[in-house]
Order: sequence, then structure tokens, then C-alpha cells
Amino acid sequence: MPDLSRYIDLIKKGNVVAFPTETVYGLGADAWNPTAIQKIFSIKGRPSDNPLIVHVSEEDQVHEFSDHIPNSAHTLIEEFWPGPLSLVLPKKTTVLDAVTAGLDTVAIRMPDHDIALELISNAGPLVAPSANKSGRPSPTRAEHVLVDFGEEFPVIDGKATKVGLESTVLDLTGDQPEILRPGSISRKEIEDILGYSVHESFFQHTDRPKSPGQKYSHYKPKAKVRWLEAEEKPKDQDCLYLLLTSDNPGSVNIVDFNNDLDQLAREIYDRFRQADLEGFSTVVIEDFQDMKHPIIPALLNRVQKAIG
Ligand code: TXA
Ligand code: MG
Repeated sequence: MPDLSRYIDLIKKGNVVAFPTETVYGLGADAWNPTAIQKIFSIKGRPSDNPLIVHVSEEDQVHEFSDHIPNSAHTLIEEFWPGPLSLVLPKKTTVLDAVTAGLDTVAIRMPDHDIALELISNAGPLVAPSANKSGRPSPTRAEHVLVDFGEEFPVIDGKATKVGLESTVLDLTGDQPEILRPGSISRKEIEDILGYSVHESFFQHTDRPKSPGQKYSHYKPKAKVRWLEAEEKPKDQDCLYLLLTSDNPGSVNIVDFNNDLDQLAREIYDRFRQADLEGFSTVVIEDFQDMKHPIIPALLNRVQKAIG
């Protein structure tokens, strides 16, 4: 565990600090400090109507933000926290508008990462969007944060994150739970624990999605992103190929994932950023939709947004 005292101090003084979680790096600020939260929006260039997720280190801290915690939330917290599941709950009136972008709900999660938990238990609950400039791929390494925000930016290095895609966002404020953003905790896992079915709304195209984040362009490298065509051979030197299997894995512009979709999820944002650093015009991804794996809806959602 690195020494966190400098970062704890920065946050307590109303500054913004980037830190690792199990999903992606977050840009953390004190959830009760409106000036610090404004800094997040301006540093990221984030639209002001896109709410933030509150990160806690103890279940009790949820009560600071919501006093309507349904049984389903208790069941899911018991099973999945700490972990990549953000729960949308009715907010207390005291929760800052800057956190919820004026909505009457608040998203909360407990990250599964020692550094994140230690930081939160010393600096208090933190709001933390992904630590990238708005629209860019989320950061999965400390270096990515420095590329977006400059070499001097305070970031706690926790090496590469283990999941690589942002948390599942689950709305518990309606009649039936609804997945607003797919993540590594799948619909089936949630349904198995709750014992009933949940909705998904992230594939609907609407100007007013329940999760404002879904209407913005996201996760995009500068390079174009497209699917590998049927029968296409990976031979264009200008393309970075992300393939499930390859006959020619030694080639510098081919990444062979050996059919491991967890690895593809873990690395996809890093590969998007690699394409930009190395000047590839296009990232070409082999279609994985015929495979069976719980990460597929989340991965597909990110690829489709990157293709945009
Ligand atoms: O894994 C993660 O969730 C990462 C790490 C750092 O924890 N954080 C993250 O935050 O991805 P961000 O701000 O990049 O994405 C938050 C998403 C957005 O799509 C936002 O619209 C949605 O969560 N969201 C936040 N609060 C909400 C609310 N009250 N109702 C509906 N959607 C909400
Ligand atoms: Mg984000």
C-alpha cells in the first residue's frame, strides 16, 4: 500500500485526486464539498447534467445519502459489495445537487480495491467519475490519467485495474430494478441473487435516458473503431487488430486475445489509447457476440459507443 497521506490531505483541502478502483481509475473529490465537485466537472469538461457516483468504504455511509434503502439493495450489497455494482437510490434532500445533477436519485458503490477503500475511509465518501477527459476512453492505468490531465496531476498508482470496464449501474427506484449501464456484474447474476427478473434500458435510443451518461459519446479513441468484416484478413498496416484468435500473433499490429473476453475487457481502453499513441488510423475488433460470456453486454455496449 503506497503512502496516501498527501492524497488524503489534498482531498480534505477540497482538491481532486485520481485513484485506482477495480474497474477503472476514478477522479475523486469530497462528496460534501460543492467547490471540489465543481472542479471535477471543469477538469473533465463534463456536461453538468451528468450525475456522479458516490463511493463509500462502509455500508453505513449509504445512510448519509439515502434513507429509502429497499430490501433488494440490502441483498445486493451483501452479495456484491465491495464490487463493481452502483446502486441508484432515492437521494436525501441534503445530497448536493452537483452530485446528482439535480436528479432526485443518487448512485452509490463500494469499490473493491485496497487503495480506494483506504482513501475513502480517511477522506470520507468521494464522488468519482472515470478519470478521463469527457468522451475519451476510461483510464485503466495511472499513465492514462497523466496523458489526459498532465504529468503533474495527482494520481495514486495502483497498476492496471483488474476489470477494465466501468461498474454496472442498477436503478432500484422503480417498480422493477433496471440496468442503466451494463458492467461485469451481469443481469443474470443480479437476477439469480434477487430471485426475479430485472429490466435493461441501455440499448434504447432516447434523448432523455434515465442514466444521463448514456446519451453522450464515450470511450472513443482518436482512431476510428470498426468490426472485422467476415472473411477479412488482418493485413492493413494502418490498423490495430484486436482478434479473438490469430494465425499470426507475432505481428506488431495484431493482439491475440486467445478467446479470453475478460482479458479483452481488461485491455480494451488501453488498446484504444495505444492505437492513438502509435498512430494507427483504425482499431479493428473481431466480433465476439457469438461467444458465451457474462461480460459480453458490457463489452458490446463500449465497442458500440466507440464505433459511435
Ligand atoms: O466503475 C465506475 O463506475 C467508475 C469508477 C471510477 O468507480 N466510475 C464511473 O463514473 O464510471 P462515470 O461518472 O464515468 O459514470 C457514471 C455513470 C454515468 O453514466 C451517469 O449518468 C450514471 O452513472 N449515473 C450517476 N448517477 C446516476 C443517477 N442518480 N441516476 C442514473 N444514472 C446515474
Ligand atoms: Mg466515465
